[in-house]
Amino acid sequence: MATHSRHLLGLEGVSAEDILLLLDSADSMKEISERDVKKVPTLRGKTVINLFLENSTRTRISFEIAAKRLSADSINLSASGSSLSKGETLADTARNLAAMSPDCIVIRHPSPGAARLLTEIVGCSIINAGDGSHEHPTQALLDLLTIRERKGEIAGLTVAIVGDILHSRVARSNVYGLLTLGAKVRLCGPPTLLPAQFAALGCELHYHLADAVRDADVIMMLRIQRERQEHDYFPSLDEYAHYFCLTEEVLADAKPDVITLHPGPMNRGIEISSGVADGPYSVMMNQVSNGVAMRMAVLYQLIVPAEGIRGSEVVERQPAPALKTVGEAR
Ligand code: CP
Repeated sequence: MATHSRHLLGLEGVSAEDILLLLDSADSMKEISERDVKKVPTLRGKTVINLFLENSTRTRISFEIAAKRLSADSINLSASGSSLSKGETLADTARNLAAMSPDCIVIRHPSPGAARLLTEIVGCSIINAGDGSHEHPTQALLDLLTIRERKGEIAGLTVAIVGDILHSRVARSNVYGLLTLGAKVRLCGPPTLLPAQFAALGCELHYHLADAVRDADVIMMLRIQRERQEHDYFPSLDEYAHYFCLTEEVLADAKPDVITLHPGPMNRGIEISSGVADGPYSVMMNQVSNGVAMRMAVLYQLIVPAEGIRGSEVVERQPAPALKTVGEAR
């Protein structure tokens, strides 16, 4: 069984230096995906288990591709195909997976704290791929990578994050990452979905979309997370769309070189119009492409170094080396 313990549970408390290390590492991973043979031997002999107990398209597939591009053995387990559906607890499932000596478990779970729970049970690295409405650190990292690529630097940018802030792990992780790197963060949504405590972190709170968008460099739209809403937080989806859907008309008040992001899955016509989603300012598909490089970087930084990220702390850093394609002389 792997005895080391290196984890990525969230971006809360992660230093700017450590975030920049991960972004730089992802930058160096990107060209592997442009090669004819998209594979390097870096994680040969390592095993990564993707334990996805909540639906996912982008995160699960990109973690699997990332592991394969680094030559790790990657195994997928979902709730319906596992003995969790027969009543086995998450803790017992984790103990059984750990007994098969993985080097890393990537977990998505509907409950906040599920990833941290695994760190107390198993000895291998744990990556949080989204735990309820808590954090989704690799999504925020790929968003930061995409913003930095387009804008050069994150410090000084005005970033508006709009939508269901209350239930959004993407918003939470991005707030931590963006503030740490020196961006100004505006959060926008109906008062019922915009917790006032974000102001204490240093975010501006806006209840009108036009105010949040005005002169923004970056606009990140979020999905209304009906599956996490136990109450009616607004009268109807039509009314929500009327006030908070990002249209080309609203976007005209942002900076001329604004970029628009969405983590997906998106609801066209509710939080974002098709004109914006498919328009010239949209970097949504860049986000998805960068997701592979970012997850390669996170797997590399956690599994390869003698020391790595522990909770919210990177205790030793090393840049990704020049990576040779599988089969090339090393
Ligand atoms: N952005 C994101 O987490 O998408 P999936 O739910 O498809 O993984």
